[in-house]
Amino acid sequence: MFDVRDLTTSYGPVRALDGVSFTAREGEVTAVLGANGAGKTTLLRTASGLVRAERGQVRLDGRDVTRAPAEDMARLGLAHVPEGRGVITELTVEENLRLGGLHRPARARRADVERICGLFPVLGERYDATAHVLSGGERQMLVIGRALMAAPKVLLLDEPSLGLAPRIVTQIFDLLRSLVASEGLTVVLVEQNARSALSIADVGVVLNLGKVVVQDEAAALAADEKLRHAYLGF
Ligand SMILES: Nc1ncnc2c1ncn2[C@@H]1O[C@H](COP(=O)(O)OP(=O)(O)O)[C@@H](O)[C@H]1O
Ligand SMILES: [Mg+2]
Repeated sequence: MFDVRDLTTSYGPVRALDGVSFTAREGEVTAVLGANGAGKTTLLRTASGLVRAERGQVRLDGRDVTRAPAEDMARLGLAHVPEGRGVITELTVEENLRLGGLHRPARARRADVERICGLFPVLGERYDATAHVLSGGERQMLVIGRALMAAPKVLLLDEPSLGLAPRIVTQIFDLLRSLVASEGLTVVLVEQNARSALSIADVGVVLNLGKVVVQDEAAALAADEKLRHAYLGF
């Protein structure tokens, strides 16, 4: 479904991604783990066309999208939720959601807003509120909801747990899990919080200094004490 081959990206002389290859299977959560600076954000930014790949390929459903411009990615079925929960605080929850479906026909957009509020009841309750009243966890739900407005096949998430209380992280990860089950979504979940991410992921990919150290079933990675200590911080 989502596949990168030999993906390589540099910022000037700094090689941030160095020949990264892995596959995220359809209808699964693939966690991309690794310390700060491992290249996780660069991977997502390259995959979604925000940064140019120096070498290698990004494939979506077998189709090469490596050189597709970022603004075409939604139409191609890829949604990227960047780090930092960037909601527009002056707009209402509904208006923020609608921004995610601008390329969809108006009628589909209305149905999509209802669908998202069904998936995230807390957004439905705050439909007309301006986003600045939302908590961190609610903002994270809003940016995920906004990405789902584009009806993606593949959802890329950059550190959704960052700065949230453990209880809220569990709530958001449980929601992600049920989205994968109900919508058949393919999720690539980038996290420094490896313990939580592995608890909901099917597969994990560990990055270090821009390279893949290992890709394996999540349970196998969580059980590997040496690997956990060396790369996963738990
Ligand atoms: N805009 C940038 N300009 C130069 N170097 C960058 C830039 N963004 C990231 N890097 C470098 O690329 C490497 C990977 O960073 P990043 O992808 O942000 O890692 P992670 O998300 O895993 O923390 C790091 O060495 C980082 O310093
Ligand atoms: Mg990052």
